[in-house]
Order: sequence, then structure tokens, then C-alpha cells
Amino acid sequence: MPAFTSAAPGKIILFGEHAVVYGRPAIAVPVAGVRARAMISADPRAAEGRVRIQAPDINLEADLDKLPGSHPLAAALRAVLSDLGLPRSPACHIRIKSTIPVASGLGSGAAVTVALIRAYSAFLGKPLPDEKVNALAFEIEKLHHGTPSGIDNTVITYAMPVYFQRKPTGPIIETFNVPQPFQIVIGDTGVRSPTAVSVRDVNKGWQAETEYFERLFDQIGSITEDARKMIEAGQPSRLGALMDENQALLVQMGVSSPPLDRLIQAARFAGAFGAKLSGGGRGGNMIALVNGNIAEVVRQALKDAGAVRTLLTPVKSC
Ligand code: PMV
Repeated sequence: MPAFTSAAPGKIILFGEHAVVYGRPAIAVPVAGVRARAMISADPRAAEGRVRIQAPDINLEADLDKLPGSHPLAAALRAVLSDLGLPRSPACHIRIKSTIPVASGLGSGAAVTVALIRAYSAFLGKPLPDEKVNALAFEIEKLHHGTPSGIDNTVITYAMPVYFQRKPTGPIIETFNVPQPFQIVIGDTGVRSPTAVSVRDVNKGWQAETEYFERLFDQIGSITEDARKMIEAGQPSRLGALMDENQALLVQMGVSSPPLDRLIQAARFAGAFGAKLSGGGRGGNMIALVNGNIAEVVRQALKDAGAVRTLLTPVKSC
């Protein structure tokens, strides 16, 4: 049997994080410069049903049947088996590698899950369609984050810019065109910050001051709508001001932090058109809108301000 490999990109949220958990729209785009990869090959020498998993980035080397049901890798594999109606797996060896930094807002967990679901279903002879991959990955996201909106698994599954809104009847997922590509610099604070924690804290705030938080979410929702219109109208340079406005609301929500604020300021001083945190916040990554002339200047300014990593990513139709 040949080896089956699948790769999935990272992602950034351009607009609407946190508010998206409360039903407002958000926009996310893939980041092709980082990726998670799953490689699966049959292991004819192993006993039937033995699934050996190696994930050196998280120091994991284990048999599937030794992992608890709540382990995201095990849960993803079991979800595929169950969806395909297979009682057990052929013996195989699974290797997972990722260049996406963990707990930093780049969607590392969702990318590993999507790559794994695709490679495993292909290995089993029944590659799953995107819609199913996305639905299974959403279930696994719940193990990572508790109450995910579903935007991470969606943008990573479709690997295209996505406008996403959670609705009681199911999510609105719209991929859209970017007639005028633009560039984003990503700066990593190096502070690992689990999304579940900031999502929980926002929820505590929302419970204590519902009206105040609902107003913030509404304002973020309308910024996201405006941003989509500008992107589709081919006017990305006007997004900078919207990024700054979105950031001000995230600060009011309590999810920014001194290291994020420092990098955001540094990017703006270096000439970025706008900047904000991206993802859960508190740590992780910030993003800045740039063009070809200032991209390197902004990257250097971010490094000087303490970014442990910077990445330049294009936003374009795929
Ligand atoms: O930290 P990330 O990249 O996983 O993004 C989280 C985005 C939130 O809106 C804060 C949570 C969610 O599930 O949408």
C-alpha cells in the first residue's frame, strides 16, 4: 500500500474573533507559509489493528488504543473510522509534523486535525469530501477549545478566504474573491496563550456585563461587514483603519496584552496601514497590513520590539 499524505495550512483571523463566538460574522484567511502534514503508511509487520502514531512536535509516540478518547488525535482517527462504518483500522504508521506554532492563534490544532482526517480517510480508501472533513474537524475543535465557533476548521478545510457566521440553524460559510491581493505581516509575541482561556474570560465578562459586550460584538460585526465589502471591491488599503478599530474593541474586551500592544504599536510606527491581534489574544500573534515597500521595514520593527517570529503572507483568491 502506498503512503498517504495530506497537508493543511495555518490561518489567521483578519476580523471578528471572539464576536464570532456570539453569532457575529468573522473573516479568516489561510496562511500557506506554515503547514501541518500527516503521513500514513500500512505496516504489514504489525498485528492487525495496531495504529502507531508519531508526533515529534508534541513529543508523542503512542499506539492509538493507548490514547484516551478525549485525545484530539485519537478522537480524529476514531471519528473517521466511525463515519466510514469500519470496526477497526488496518495496521498502520502515522507521522504528524507541523511548522505551525501551537497556542498562538495560527490554527495549529485544526490544521493537524484536517490533515489527519484527509490522510486517514484516503488511506482507508474512502477520501472524505470537504464538508465532512469540516464537520468532523469541528467536533475535534471542541476538545481543543470547549466552545469553538468553527471558523478555524472551516478556513483550514477550504484553504480559501472565508466569511463565517454562526447561526442556530448551522453556520454561514462563504468563500469570497480577493480581486486585489494584499499582504499581511504576522508577528508572534512568543507568549503561548490557550484560546479556551481567553474565550472563557470573555464569556465571564459577557455574563457580568451583557449589554456592554453585546455592543462591542455588534461594532465588531459591522467592521467585519465593511471589511468584506472593501476586500471584494478591490480596496484593501482601506482595511488598515478597520483593523485599528477592531483592535480598540478587542482591547476593551480585555483580550489584548502588553506584548501584543507593543508589537501592534511598533508595526504602526513602522508604517503599517493598520494592526491588530489575531485569534484568541492575550499572547500569540498580531497582524499588520503592509505593502511590498514596507513589509521588510515592519518585519524588522516587529523583531526589534520583541517578536520571536515574523511571517509575510499574501491574502488572495486561491
Ligand atoms: O486562537 P485561535 O486562532 O484558535 O482563534 C480563536 C478565535 C476565537 O474567536 C477567539 C474563538 C473561536 O472559536 O472562534
